[in-house]
Amino acid sequence: MELDHCRDSQIVVAIDGPGGAGKSTVAAEVARRIGGLYFDTGVVYRALALVALENGVALDDEAELARLARELRIRVTPPSEQDGRLYDVWLDGRDVTWAIRTPEIDRAASQVAAHREVRSALLGLQREIGRSGRVVMAGRDIGTVVMPDAPVKVWLDASLEERARRRQRDLAARGVVVSLEDVKAELAERDRRDAERAVAPMRPAEDAVVIDTDGRSIEDVVRLVIKVIEERCACAQHG
Ligand code: DC
Repeated sequence: MELDHCRDSQIVVAIDGPGGAGKSTVAAEVARRIGGLYFDTGVVYRALALVALENGVALDDEAELARLARELRIRVTPPSEQDGRLYDVWLDGRDVTWAIRTPEIDRAASQVAAHREVRSALLGLQREIGRSGRVVMAGRDIGTVVMPDAPVKVWLDASLEERARRRQRDLAARGVVVSLEDVKAELAERDRRDAERAVAPMRPAEDAVVIDTDGRSIEDVVRLVIKVIEERCACAQHG
């Protein structure tokens, strides 16, 4: 089998799944082990949502949101602080790493991401990074739309209960206190919007390996993903 995105040192690993399934932690660790770049595509939608809210742009104003998306100047760089972040996110020289992680942005990012024009405005940027070499990309539509030729596709899932517990713990670590019931309701609403949208709905690619992370440790899941990489990419090297 000839794999376009699995030659020489180039490997594209697509990790999709709903919020709270463990994509970020797993993708970052897999990237570290294969010596690749970790790109969390949700950051792009979150940054756009922040810009929209700050500029008073309505979340259903598709044309204006698409204009903001085309102008989005976002940079993702290695972590400059040891406060639990996996990377820094910069918007025009401003560190917005934590500003894009509030419950308000959770909701708004999912809303801006539902628009066709917004998604197409942000596609080029994601593909450019995806084609840059060895990269692990996390999102909702990486295996289906952004990098459909990726040789390694993984769908990470977990029960709503478990995902809500993880999300509540992450928020609590940053001093944001929310009830489990509220987190569950927010996640369920976001799942519904991400999965039911007309354009690039969240779903596993047909050739994705589905991993249920309920009751599994991060190490366990990372190893499973590495195994898939070894099976599908003969060129994979990791330490
Ligand atoms: O992965 P996350 O929670 O940071 O993503 C935030 C929102 O962005 C999510 O609710 C839907 C949207 N998103 C998307 O539509 N496609 C992606 N590839 C990544 C995120």
